[in-house]
Amino acid sequence: MAEADAPGARAFFPAETSLTSLRAAAARCEGCALWTRGTQTVFGEGPAHASLMLVGEQPGDVEDESGRPFVGPAGLLLDRCLARAGIARGETYVTNVVKHFKWEARGKRRIHSKPNAREIRACLPWLEAEMADVEPGLVVCLGATAAQALLGPRFRLTQHRGELQRSPLAGRVLATVHPSALLRAPDEGTRRRETERFVEDLRLAKAALAGAAGA
Ligand code: URA
Ligand code: SF4
Repeated sequence: MAEADAPGARAFFPAETSLTSLRAAAARCEGCALWTRGTQTVFGEGPAHASLMLVGEQPGDVEDESGRPFVGPAGLLLDRCLARAGIARGETYVTNVVKHFKWEARGKRRIHSKPNAREIRACLPWLEAEMADVEPGLVVCLGATAAQALLGPRFRLTQHRGELQRSPLAGRVLATVHPSALLRAPDEGTRRRETERFVEDLRLAKAALAGAAGA
């Protein structure tokens, strides 16, 4: 299929858009060419009305195999950082902007390849539907891909990280780095510092939620 001909996820929407129906329909999505490359659709998971939604970029190698979001190395780091911020992963709804793993072969390994704007646009309806069902009080974007998908291509993570934003698509949004960026830190000192900043952003998210609940 030529990329320009990709019908997008909406062509595969179920008549009834509960999370359960959406998940089943997404498993059969051929909205862009990525379905031919990944093993399976990795839909979001978590409580149906979680107050906090976490949005990453796309599943990685481990997620592609298991069918669950953020269960590989970045996911384990995310879990530890959430716990340090006083957030139970099990109370959050965790998902990605793009639901199939995009990869390139390097020897025997499958290396993550960044989704392009067309693929993001094709897949976004699944995330929009997840947000409409879950109705989270706050969406935390993990990394620039998620942040720009929800806050627009001009959003600069380096300038507005950790700030409460308003998104026409998602309501209240806070953007921070992707946990895989912490794994790629060039040295131990940088990694430790960046991890502290990440945990601090998650604490801000928790405080913002508590503030909204009390308002
Ligand atoms: N990175 C992501 O953005 N999402 C996952 O689910 C795993 C790794
Ligand atoms: Fe459908 Fe998204 Fe997978 Fe493309 S990446 S086939 S739009 S689920």
